[in-house]
Amino acid sequence: MLSGPGGIPALRSELDTYLQTARARQLDELCDWLRIPSVSTLSQHKPDVERAADWLARKMTAIGLENVESIETTGPPIVYGDWLHRGTDAPTLLIYGHYDVQPVDPLELWISPPFEPTVRGDDLFARGASDDKGQIFVHIAAVEALLATAGALPVNVKFVVEGEEEDGSQALMAYMPTATARLAADVCLISDTHMLAPDQPLIIYGLRGVWAGDITVRGPSQDLHSGMYGGAVHNPNQALCELLARLHDETGRVTVPNFYDEVQPLNDRERTALARVPYGEEKLLEESGAPAAWGERGFSVTERIGARPTLEINGIWGGFIGDGFKTVIPAQAHAKVSCRLVPHQQSAAIGPMIERYLQQIAPPTVQVTVHTRQHAPAIVVPLDVPEIQAAARAYARAFGAQPVFSREGGSIPVATVVQDALGIPILFMGFGLPDDNLHAPNEKLHLPNFYRGIQAGIALMEELAS
Ligand code: BES
Ligand code: MN
Ligand code: MN
Repeated sequence: MLSGPGGIPALRSELDTYLQTARARQLDELCDWLRIPSVSTLSQHKPDVERAADWLARKMTAIGLENVESIETTGPPIVYGDWLHRGTDAPTLLIYGHYDVQPVDPLELWISPPFEPTVRGDDLFARGASDDKGQIFVHIAAVEALLATAGALPVNVKFVVEGEEEDGSQALMAYMPTATARLAADVCLISDTHMLAPDQPLIIYGLRGVWAGDITVRGPSQDLHSGMYGGAVHNPNQALCELLARLHDETGRVTVPNFYDEVQPLNDRERTALARVPYGEEKLLEESGAPAAWGERGFSVTERIGARPTLEINGIWGGFIGDGFKTVIPAQAHAKVSCRLVPHQQSAAIGPMIERYLQQIAPPTVQVTVHTRQHAPAIVVPLDVPEIQAAARAYARAFGAQPVFSREGGSIPVATVVQDALGIPILFMGFGLPDDNLHAPNEKLHLPNFYRGIQAGIALMEELAS
């Protein structure tokens, strides 16, 4: 059944016919998967997360993947499946993705319900459509088409799909070092990022790391009547805002001492390369709807997003926020804060750094503590490996345009662990778009990207084999 190494196993026309015929069914199947609300950060969705894993394991088996297993962990199962019949004649491609999704709130802003996948125009709207079920399904569909028409793949393939990426990837991080033999491969493909535009593919060679945690400001030992105590004790909500306001200076720099200590200045070569990326302030404003750009002085938008560290206040709460009003001085105020990190920054050091600074500047009227929830370092991928060239050719074949190369702002914490534990390069080849509304209402997948993504997945396997 197998053709020679590097040969294109299926007749093009047969493969193309298969892909044409299978289109509607494959889209229906993706919609079935998207209907399962696999929100990993909300405990009430635990059974749904498990159902989404089962669904994937069944699908993997149905398309002819072998050794399919839903691996039990301390968290959601890790779904594994492989096809290894090329043996040592061809390289092994490890495909990573995640089947968990973000929460849907604010629900009222969705035009169609998040777990009722809906096609409008060229887009499929659903939570997880782009991040990441739709993108992992691209490769399931690619493998299905090759196995159905040729009975073989050009390379060995292993899938490892986790259900906890949006919640810190703890289980996969723990599993990875114990599974280096099972997951051994020559290269790891991650389709969990975006392109610049439908006709402009993007190979990402760096992603930022992340630190995320909570700040708590404590004042009085219990909530107080603001008529009886207002003006005489420091309101924790106010103190929190005063502290948060001092985390950046007027040039947009983070003021936490030592925050930039390990950050390498951008060299001319890198600045020139990033300047070539067709993205700028105008695009940013159009995509985001923000009234004006903001950021660290002296850096372009592309540099700020891909190559500079940040500190963001993700949420603030304290006191009374219900209907009407309540004249209260709360006992505590809270903020959720996260940082994006660049190479060489120690992700474990960030929490203590922020806590030290806040405690140093906090007035004696309140107490402040910082609790770390999650951290992971940044990743940089070597560009001078042949697999990157194979990915560029595959993208060009499917999308009719050469990819550009850039660093991106998001984080995939497990990527560093894969790169280090398995000692292989990572290919960040995404099929999303910047306006896919990731983590926001009306998440979508651009269907032309989905179909061309399947072609790119097939082309990548072929290019890696040759
Ligand atoms: N797919 C994203 C990461 C991403 C998005 C990379 C856009 C590049 C461009 C991933 O699912 C994600 O959301 N990661 C989180 C990690 C966090 C939960 C630790 C992130 O970046 O916020
Ligand atoms: Mn993702
Ligand atoms: Mn995400």
